[in-house]
Amino acid sequence: MPKELLPRHVAIIMDGNGRWAQRRLMPRTYGHREGMKALKEVVKASSEMGIEVLTVYAFSTENWTRPQDEVSFLMNLLVEFIEKELEEMHQNQVQVHFIGERSRIPAACLDAIDRAGVKTRDNRGMVFNVAVNYGARQEMLRAVQTIAAEAAAGRILPDEITEDRISAELFTAGLPDPDLLIRTAGEMRVSNYLLWQIAYSEFVVVDKMWPDFGKADLSEAIREYARRDRRFGGLKS
Ligand code: FPP
Repeated sequence: MPKELLPRHVAIIMDGNGRWAQRRLMPRTYGHREGMKALKEVVKASSEMGIEVLTVYAFSTENWTRPQDEVSFLMNLLVEFIEKELEEMHQNQVQVHFIGERSRIPAACLDAIDRAGVKTRDNRGMVFNVAVNYGARQEMLRAVQTIAAEAAAGRILPDEITEDRISAELFTAGLPDPDLLIRTAGEMRVSNYLLWQIAYSEFVVVDKMWPDFGKADLSEAIREYARRDRRFGGLKS
């Protein structure tokens, strides 16, 4: 595919792990484990295709309301994912970033997150953002508070606040906005994900559950994206 048709930034809502497992009469956690394998394949495929940024929703601020054992399982799985995959991602020049609030994340998980960030920070390949304890409204609230404090201190005037300034206070500062947002398991919601950044993203909803999503499905979503006529609110050129 010509480079100009490839999305620079792909964001994914990895949904349906629980349903995938329940359909097989297995515990939900089994679905998360299989979901981890799908994630590994998608990271590798995205980096090989030349995608610049991949952002995945691993754990939302709302996911804390799940049963405690499922929350712990997901946090441990994140540590396991980093332990198993960090070396290969590093070899492939992937830069691993975590986006979200650090509060509430268990220490072992924060350690793994920090280790991955430090090890890969000088890499020059794909930026892989893992959203953990992430919520877009909280992200925007944090940005507003930072900018309001600057204004209160007299360092910026309200009129000088621009869209770029707001973008620069988000966890995705410095990265292009997602061109393509993929959600699996057929749900047509954005679930508090990257609300500012997806203003003009193309949305592709896939019926498959996340554990069944692979490289071929990613390619198909990208082909669908390439067929779309993006106008950004203007007229066809
Ligand atoms: C949605 O499925 C998925 C999640 C809440 C977690 C995403 C986690 C993974 C893909 C596991 C691997 C990744 C790491 C790094 C931890 P769901 O449980 O909401 O499914 P359901 O809607 O069918 O219940």
